Amino acid sequence: MCGICAGIGSENQIEKVVRGLKKLEYRGYDSCGLAYINETKNLEIVKCVGGTENLENRIDKTDFSNVVIGHTRWATHGTVCEENAHPHISFDGQFAIVHNGIVENFEELKKQVDVQLKSQTDTEVLVNLICKQSGTTLEKICNACQKVVGSFAIALIENGKDEIFFARRGSPLWIAADEKGVFAGSDISVFDKNFKKCFCLEDDEFAVASLKKVEFFEKNCKKIEKKSISVENVDFFDGFSDEQTFMLKEIKEQPIVLRKTCFNLFSSLDDAKICELKKFKKFHFVACGTAYHSCLMGCQFIKKFCKKQCEASVASEFRYADNVLSKNCLYVFVSQSGETADTIASARLVKDAGLSVMCVTNEPYCTLNSLADFVLPTFAGKEMAVASTKAYTAQVFSLLIFALRLGGETIQNTLKDFVQAFDCEFDVDKLCQLVLASQKVFFIGRGQDYVSSLEAALKLKEIAYINCLGMPAGELKHGTLALVDEKSLVVAISTQEKTKKKIESNILEVQARGGKVALISNLEHNVDVDLKLTLPNFEEFLMPIVSIVPLQLLAFEVCQRLGFDPDKPRNLAKSVTVE
Ligand code: AGP
Repeated sequence: MCGICAGIGSENQIEKVVRGLKKLEYRGYDSCGLAYINETKNLEIVKCVGGTENLENRIDKTDFSNVVIGHTRWATHGTVCEENAHPHISFDGQFAIVHNGIVENFEELKKQVDVQLKSQTDTEVLVNLICKQSGTTLEKICNACQKVVGSFAIALIENGKDEIFFARRGSPLWIAADEKGVFAGSDISVFDKNFKKCFCLEDDEFAVASLKKVEFFEKNCKKIEKKSISVENVDFFDGFSDEQTFMLKEIKEQPIVLRKTCFNLFSSLDDAKICELKKFKKFHFVACGTAYHSCLMGCQFIKKFCKKQCEASVASEFRYADNVLSKNCLYVFVSQSGETADTIASARLVKDAGLSVMCVTNEPYCTLNSLADFVLPTFAGKEMAVASTKAYTAQVFSLLIFALRLGGETIQNTLKDFVQAFDCEFDVDKLCQLVLASQKVFFIGRGQDYVSSLEAALKLKEIAYINCLGMPAGELKHGTLALVDEKSLVVAISTQEKTKKKIESNILEVQARGGKVALISNLEHNVDVDLKLTLPNFEEFLMPIVSIVPLQLLAFEVCQRLGFDPDKPRNLAKSVTVE
C-alpha cells in the first residue's frame, strides 16, 4: 500500500520525483526514499523514516540525475525503519527497486534467492529474485514476475544505465511520455498539469523507458504497441501551502463541493440513464470505512424515496461472503480514491458473475471506474487529508440525488436552496472540552443519525486517537450502558421527528447513570443536557449532511488540542490499496 514515482529525461529528475511522491503520500507516509543514477553513472540511494519533508532534508541539493525512482511507504512487511524503507538494492548492488503491492509467496522465494537480506521486506526478496535470473534485464524481470504470487507495481533501475524498467500486476501504474522524457507513478496526479496523454500499464505488461522513449512488452518479452489515453478533468492539485491543514481546508470546502455536486449531477444523471437504472429491483452498496457509512446513508435514501430493497456491506466482508448475487440487483461500489483493494476485489467478483456494477468515485481515472458499467462521479475535488470529510458529504449528497431521481422526486429547487444556505460555521469549543474531560465517548443516534454517529466516532478515533464508539441509540441498554458512568460523554444526534422522543428517553437513561450528554440537533427537545449544539433547520433528509460537519470539526479540534497531525494520523494511509 505504497506510492511509486519515477522519472527519466533530459532535466534533473530528483525534484520532480520528490514532488510526485508528495502527491502520493496519501498512499502511505511511514518512510520514503529515492534511487538514482548520479553524474558518474553510479547508483545512489537516499531514504528515511517519515514523510517527504525528511527526505528533502537528506537530499544534496546540488545532486543531478536523469534517472530516478522514488517510493513512499505504508509498512506491510516489517516495522517502520530505514532498513525497510524503499528503494531496496540487490545483494550485488546492481539493481534498485521500488514496489507497491505484496509478494505473498515471499517466504518461499526468500529460500530460493538464498542471500543475506538487510530488511524484513518482501521487496528486497523480489529485487534479489530478479537479479538471480538469467538473460537481459527485461528477461530477468519477466522471469521473476512469473514466480511471484501477489500484486506488484515496480520500477527498477540498474547501476550505470539510463533506463527504467516497469512491471505491473494488480497495483496501478501510469506512464507518460513526451519530448522531455518519461514519467511514471501510481496515479496520474504525479504528472505535470499541462500533460495530456499517458499509458495505463495493464496486468502482466512491462515497460522500458529510456531518455527519449518508452516501449511496452508482454510477459514473454514480446514488444507490443499500446494506445495512449487522453486524460481530462484531472485535479492535479499543486498547492502544498502550510497555511492550513488539509483537513480543515477540506471541511471548509464542503459548501462549494455541494454546490458543484448539485450543479453537475443533474446533468450526469440524465433521464435515459435513470430509466435504465429503474429496472433494478434491489440495490447492494459495498465500500470500506467512511465510504461504507455513505453506503449506509445511501440505503436509507433508496428505501425512503424508491421504496426498493437495499443493503450495504463492508467490502472486506462482501468479498469472502457467501453472497447470493442477483441480476435484478444493482451493485454499487463507493470509494473516494477508487483504489481501495477490498472494494475493487468486490466489484471484480460481481463483474465476473456478469452482473451490473455502478461505481461512485471521486477520481475519474481510478481502477474501480475501469470495472464500472456506470460511474456516478462525486465532485469533491482532490482530498488530501487521510480523514475523509468533503468526499463523505459529496458521496452522501450524490447518493441522495441519485435516490431522489430514481424515485421520481422533483425537488431540484429544495436542493438548490439548501446548497446556497449550507455553511460550515460551528463553534465546537465547549463540545471539545467535554470530550477532553471524558474517559469514554459514545455517539448515539437512530436511522440516519445512527449512521452519522458511526462516522463521527470514526473521525475522532482516526485523528485524535480517542477510543470511542458510534452506535444505534436503542442498542445502549442491550449492553453498552454498562460502560456508562460519570466519566462518560454521550453525544446524541437527533434530526428526525419520529425518533425525537426515543432519543430523549435514551438521554435520560444515560443521565440516570451519571453520564454527561451533549445533544446535536435542529429539533426542539424537552430534556436538560450538559451541552446543546443547535443545527440549522433543513428538510430531514438533508440533515445528515448538516449534522456531520460539527462532528468533523470536533475531531479536528480535539486532534489539534492534543497536538497530533490531523492530515497524517499514525498507522494509516489515505488509500488502502492492499488487503
Ligand atoms: C476515512 O476517514 C478513512 N480514512 C477511511 O475509512 C476511508 O474512507 C476508507 O479507507 C475508504 O477509502 P476510499 O473511499 O478511498 O475507498
